[in-house]
Parts: sequence; C-alpha cells; structure tokens
Amino acid sequence: MTVAYASGKVILFGEHAVVYGRPAIAVPVTQVRAQAVVEGAAKGRGIAIVAQDLGQTYLLDQTPPDDPLRQIVVLTLQRLGVGLAHDLTITISSTIPIARGLGSGAAISTAIVRALSKYFDKELSPRAISDLVYEVEKIHHGTPSGIDNTVIAYEVPIYFVKSQTCEALRVKRPFIIIIADTGVQSPTKVAVAEVRRAWEREPSRYDRLFDQMGEVAIRARRAIEEGTIEEMGHLMNENHRLLRLIGVSSPELEDLVRAAREAGALGAKLSGAGRGGNMIALVSEETEKPVVRALREAGAKHLIVTEVK
Ligand code: PMV
Repeated sequence: MTVAYASGKVILFGEHAVVYGRPAIAVPVTQVRAQAVVEGAAKGRGIAIVAQDLGQTYLLDQTPPDDPLRQIVVLTLQRLGVGLAHDLTITISSTIPIARGLGSGAAISTAIVRALSKYFDKELSPRAISDLVYEVEKIHHGTPSGIDNTVIAYEVPIYFVKSQTCEALRVKRPFIIIIADTGVQSPTKVAVAEVRRAWEREPSRYDRLFDQMGEVAIRARRAIEEGTIEEMGHLMNENHRLLRLIGVSSPELEDLVRAAREAGALGAKLSGAGRGGNMIALVSEETEKPVVRALREAGAKHLIVTEVK
C-alpha cells in the first residue's frame, strides 16, 4: 500500500490578472490536504478509483474519457512508462473544501500522481508533477494560468508568471493569514469565463486593471522578501479594490472583508476566482483572535489560520 498527500493553496496576490500574463503570488496551505492510496487489487479487476468522500467507485474502463480522475491516472501511467494494464485500487479523500479557491482539484490530481509514482518506484520531479496536473486542469478549467498546479507541486510560496517564471519566494518575516469561507461555491471556470467576456468587451480598461494588479504583485513580492508586513496589508486592500472593479467580488465577500478590516486586520481581500469562495485577512498575533471572532460573526462558514514562512 502506498500513500501520498498534497496540500491546499491560496492565492495572495494577482488572481485573474495572472491568466493574462501578469505576475501572481500563491502559498501552500498545509492545514488541509488531499490523500491518495494505491494498492494492488485482485487479478483481472483492472483499475478502480474509490472517491471515499463521495462514497463512489469508478472503474477506469467504464469511466468517460473526459473524466478528470481517469485522465490524471492515464496520463501519469503513460508518463511513468508502465502502461495501463494493472490491477489497482486508488482511494482518494480530501479535507480541502471544493470550489472555494483552495485548489482541491489540483491537490487531488497531485496526490494521485505522487502515489502512483511512489507505487511504481519511479520518481517524478515537482516540475513533471505540475505539468501532468496542468494537462487535466486545462481540459476542465478552460484557460488556467497554471498557478494552482505549480504551487501545489512545489509546496513553497511562489512568485509566478504564466509560461515564464516560477520562483520560490524567500519569506523574511513569517506572517499569519486567516482564510475565511463565504460558504458560496464558485466554480473557477465560470468566473474566469465572465472576466474574459468583459475583457473582450473593454480590452483597454481591463488591460489597465490587470497591469495595476501586476504592479501590486511585484510590490508585494518585495514586501514579503523584505518583511514589511504593513505594506503587504495595504497591497492586499489595493488588490481587492482592483478585483472589485473587474467584477468578481460579491456581497458575502464584501461583508467578510469589511468585518476583518474593522476588527484590525492589516489587509483583506478576496482570494481565487471570487464571486464566492474564500477571502483572506492578514493579521498580527494581537489581532488574530478578534479578526477570527469578527469573521465568524459576519457569517464565515469555515476558517483556517495559517502561518506563511
Ligand atoms: O482556483 P482558484 O479559485 O484559486 O482560482 C484560480 C485563480 C484564477 O486566477 C482566477 C484562475 C487561474 O487559472 O489562475
């Protein structure tokens, strides 16, 4: 039996603009994770994928070709050069909330790739893992930037530019982020497609906003590397203002962002695709508890406190 894991992730700066080639910053969230277990099965059974959380079992042979679980298994076995003729059970489970901007899909795929490569004793680099997961993300998310699969495969804070740069970020002073869930599911694909339509209608306005978000990400990188945490808070607020202007905030996100700021957060913004999902607040040790309380009172459904280091 072989077990492997992959953590969740959160985008600190630059979501949406990253799809259009501007830089973004993301960090792993190790408090939540996906797990994949691979074990041998009875001869002739073929490959079965058991989704424990859903209580469902899929036989690879009978799964539609465009199914994401089937695809990641097939692509990985091909990449490992071991063929598809195996009798295996792959059991997956996850504590990462689905469709909330925490990278649940990419984490499940990553855990499967890691578990299969371990099972067949063939090592894959983080880059190879990220590339495999990206193939599946592309089929299901339209035009993903690749930031999710990259940060989850490398499991370190990253500064990312689509198809160009992925650099590990040196965090000078660890900082605390509260991730708060609006409870509203928001599929990334839908929000990304709507932003694309808006960009097509008003390209120069949207390009200007994306440029400003890119500038914020560049300044945020400096703030993280120099340990100027207050500056990071201002930049989060500025990034949120720009995200509102491209139309991806929502009343629930606004309530949580306001509550966090009023309770003393250094900065707060929506995170990920928006329209629902999560927001993040930057806090000090002193303001962590009051901000957690304020977010709960403002209706947050689920909270994660994580230290970025
Ligand atoms: O999966 P989410 O909700 O974190 O959103 C991904 C971030 C986007 O920039 C909106 C899309 C992308 O592909 O980068």
